[in-house]
Amino acid sequence: AGVDGIGALYGYGTREELQSSGAAAVVESIEALTKLLLGGLPMEKGLFITLEGPDGCGKSTQARLLAQRLRQLGHRVVETREPGGCPISERIRALVLDANEKGMCDVTEALLFAASRAQHVHDVIRPAIERGDTVLCDRFVDSSIVFQGEARGLGRELVAAINAPAVDGVMPDITLLLMMDPIEAICRRRAERAPDRIEADDALAKRVYEAYRALAQREPKRVRVVDACGSVEQISAQIRLIVADI
Ligand code: TYD
Repeated sequence: AGVDGIGALYGYGTREELQSSGAAAVVESIEALTKLLLGGLPMEKGLFITLEGPDGCGKSTQARLLAQRLRQLGHRVVETREPGGCPISERIRALVLDANEKGMCDVTEALLFAASRAQHVHDVIRPAIERGDTVLCDRFVDSSIVFQGEARGLGRELVAAINAPAVDGVMPDITLLLMMDPIEAICRRRAERAPDRIEADDALAKRVYEAYRALAQREPKRVRVVDACGSVEQISAQIRLIVADI
């Protein structure tokens, strides 16, 4: 019929058998087949999804469930978190969240979060998006804008400027913002474990809540609010709907 055939070695048949049957090329893996078929065409970029919310809103559980769901649908998913997500950034995390570091000033805190993010974008997030993987990140630059920029009072512009070289143009396609009453969220978190340096401050938690609400109002297209008061299943159903939409 005038159509070229490609022999796939990950099914049945040996290279000799496929070549003698007239295969124009023989490949050993699906990745090699993709490369051959797409040639120099640019790969489709992966989706970058972030989860945000005040401390204790249940993000981590939902991140796990969403990752499972996306994998069931056939996506390659990279699950990661901030601060942290790669060895250098995890070391910065240990320092910036250490409840014993009582003297850390707000600018140092903001710079440490940004430093951790720079390495994380460089080592994990950008490469994954460029490979076409879906990246699911528990907190990203919105956390810095909310916690350091607004709740600590450094200002959104300053914190955005500090983070510009860290983010380096990589912004989430969609942000799931889990919201619940801040007092309830604090109690929930306290029942789980001792608070870290940032969680220990109740007044900060209330400002964080307000700042997240303002973020959702400023960017309603990207930042989708999820009501995090219901059961785990109710919350994950809302998230599935939003993600299915994109
Ligand atoms: P973590 O234990 O990961 O909290 P959670 O499970 O609620 O995400 O700790 C991260 C803490 O660091 C959390 O209090 C939010 C804060 N944070 C910032 O203040 N700025 C940032 O840029 C990031 C990423 C986190």
